[in-house]
Amino acid sequence: MSSRTAVVTGASSGIGEATARTLAAQGLQVVIGARRVDRLQRLTDEIGATAMPLDVTDEASVAEFTDAVERCDVLVNNAGGAKGLAPVSAADLDDWRWMWETNVLGTLRMTKALLPKLIDSGDGLIVTITSVAALTHYDNGAGYTSAKHAQAVLHRTLRGELMGQPVRLTEIAPGAVETEFSLVRFNGDEERAAKVYEGIEPLVAADIAEIVGFVASRPSHVNIDQIVVKPRDQVAAGRFARRLG
Ligand SMILES: NC(=O)c1ccc[n+]([C@@H]2O[C@H](COP(=O)([O-])OP(=O)(O)OC[C@H]3O[C@@H](n4cnc5c(N)ncnc54)[C@H](OP(=O)(O)O)[C@@H]3O)[C@@H](O)[C@H]2O)c1
Repeated sequence: MSSRTAVVTGASSGIGEATARTLAAQGLQVVIGARRVDRLQRLTDEIGATAMPLDVTDEASVAEFTDAVERCDVLVNNAGGAKGLAPVSAADLDDWRWMWETNVLGTLRMTKALLPKLIDSGDGLIVTITSVAALTHYDNGAGYTSAKHAQAVLHRTLRGELMGQPVRLTEIAPGAVETEFSLVRFNGDEERAAKVYEGIEPLVAADIAEIVGFVASRPSHVNIDQIVVKPRDQVAAGRFARRLG
């Protein structure tokens, strides 16, 4: 097994969990973080990763987590999500704060803290999971689309700022992936969450994890800047071919 180490944030479910599985299977040492440590523990038992509690919205938690990471070759900024679906006129400030704190400042905190170790590795890689919501906007989605745009711009800016350093940057912008994403967005409303995927065949977390695995296994002179991936049934954010019986 190599000592190449990958840090995956938000690995307690969905894309992060699947990514941790894929990278561990590729022989990387995987360090996983999220707030629900019981779930991380189960994953650790299965794939042999190192699990630590992590709240990317909390400076002290990020410091404790990143201080304990001895070596970092790959950072997967995955922790994130959406809260609510409301027009700007009815924006819930707490939902906006949650989305900006988690997606934008969470990515900033983790990246800033681990950057010296990524550079020291001699071949660092930062993969940030943004979204098609980082490429366009849609009605009632401004809290999420603005946060994903900001997260993406932070990530893309680093590509220039790190020019000449041994760090690669890849943005992965998925369309609809069936995870706990919609359950979180709609505050645990299972019926409403299920409607998002009704009549379509969405992507699954493993589809994105496989892409992260591909990116992380390219030779060090190859930088894949951006990958946009959607289900065949999705043409754009909010535009689906639904087969409703
Ligand atoms: N599903 C989609 O359709 C889709 C499409 C495009 C992009 N994305 C993006 O993909 C990423 C992963 O989402 P997913 O679809 O896999 O959703 P998910 O199943 O809800 O997973 C989200 C993960 O983020 C973690 N997380 C949330 N807040 C956190 C915090 N403050 N600190 C640390 N971890 C936190 C959660 O863990 P804890 O709750 O245990 O902390 C969970 O592990 C997100 O950035 C999302 O915006 C998703």
